[in-house]
Amino acid sequence: MRVIGLMSGTSYDAIEAAAAELRLDGDELVMTVLGARSLPWPRETRDGIAAVLPPAATTVEAVCRLDTLIGRAFADAAGQAVRTLCSGAADLVVSHGQTVHHWVEDGTVRGTLQLGRPAWIAEATGLPVVSDLRSRDVAAGGQGAPLVSAVDTLLLRGRPGVAAALNLGGIANVTVVPRTADPVAFDTGPANALLDAAVRHFSGGARHYDEDGRGAAAGRVDAALLALLLDEPYYRRPAPKTTGKELFHLPYLLDALAARPVLELADMLATLTRLTAVTVADACRAHRVTELVVSGGGARNPVLLRAIGAELPGVRVLTSDAVGLPADAKEALAFAVLGFLTVHGLPATVPSCTGARHASLLGSLTPGAAPPRLPPPAAVAPTRLRIVPAAAR
Ligand SMILES: Nc1ncnc2c1ncn2[C@@H]1O[C@H](COP(=O)(O)OP(=O)(O)O)[C@@H](O)[C@H]1O
Ligand SMILES: [Mg+2]
Repeated sequence: MRVIGLMSGTSYDAIEAAAAELRLDGDELVMTVLGARSLPWPRETRDGIAAVLPPAATTVEAVCRLDTLIGRAFADAAGQAVRTLCSGAADLVVSHGQTVHHWVEDGTVRGTLQLGRPAWIAEATGLPVVSDLRSRDVAAGGQGAPLVSAVDTLLLRGRPGVAAALNLGGIANVTVVPRTADPVAFDTGPANALLDAAVRHFSGGARHYDEDGRGAAAGRVDAALLALLLDEPYYRRPAPKTTGKELFHLPYLLDALAARPVLELADMLATLTRLTAVTVADACRAHRVTELVVSGGGARNPVLLRAIGAELPGVRVLTSDAVGLPADAKEALAFAVLGFLTVHGLPATVPSCTGARHASLLGSLTPGAAPPRLPPPAAVAPTRLRIVPAAAR
């Protein structure tokens, strides 16, 4: 089955579209990556997302408009993916949508909202769409995140030592897959969220991120600001736990800077880069991780990767490209896998990772042009993900 995965994370920097050929072979899920595209948001849509994100107040009208704009942008991305990655023929689109709110109260997730109405994608492509993948896990008592943990578990199971997957998006999340114990997954804290907020704010909106970590490389860590930021209670909460830009936003950073002023942007960036490295490393040490497979936009920041490596001597740090998943497209490919599991009647969550009472069949299904026809429910749930290069198919 040819499946397109569409994802935009909390950084809302771009829509990631990826396509994969997926099939079940006994207890293996076999994936061939067909390709991936990173598609810029239309300016109006991106501004609209920025305007509704916490702590901003918004209106139902703004949410309605944005739901349509995001749905149409995802529909364009899906159309391009069908044409350019699948030679015009795909079977299914899986759309994460854009998270605009992740409602956490005392560590319990009570709701999570992704915008981007799937009808636009179904109308534009004629393909069935699986969307709204997070809600069912929340309804089953889980965090609704990190959902990629199910795919990480399939991918890393059986690797030597204690393998972990780390995604460095706006927020950083890890999935730890020990050889004999249950896997665990959680958000460690900000990856790029505060870095991006600092760059945007102090460049007056001229720049959006610290390209290649150049600012951080030129600055010095401010020990007092770092200590203040590390005092955040979230880091001390036990897993499973998830967070978002409801907590780690610009006013949060400005409050910290008011308490501990740091004048140079470069020093702020050095400090925030170290904050990400330290919180990721603390999480890895707590779970005795020996190998760390990194993905997400932060994997392209060499200063951040070096800082993480320096905090974790003896741990093998590699990017997900080394295990067959392009670092930028990993999350989009993971969502393609989750939707594929859904249409095969297979639960796609790991309760020890999301904290749910049980594993759930995820998502809502929007029919395409034809009446919905699902494959017969799979007889065997896969226990491993095998990635086969396109040339070797
Ligand atoms: N070359 C780079 N140097 C430094 N940071 C980068 C680079 N490329 C991407 N990033 C960071 O990665 C972020 C996007 O990562 P992504 O995985 O798409 O996050 P999300 O899932 O939250 O959208 C950007 O906002 C930026 O902070
Ligand atoms: Mg992104």
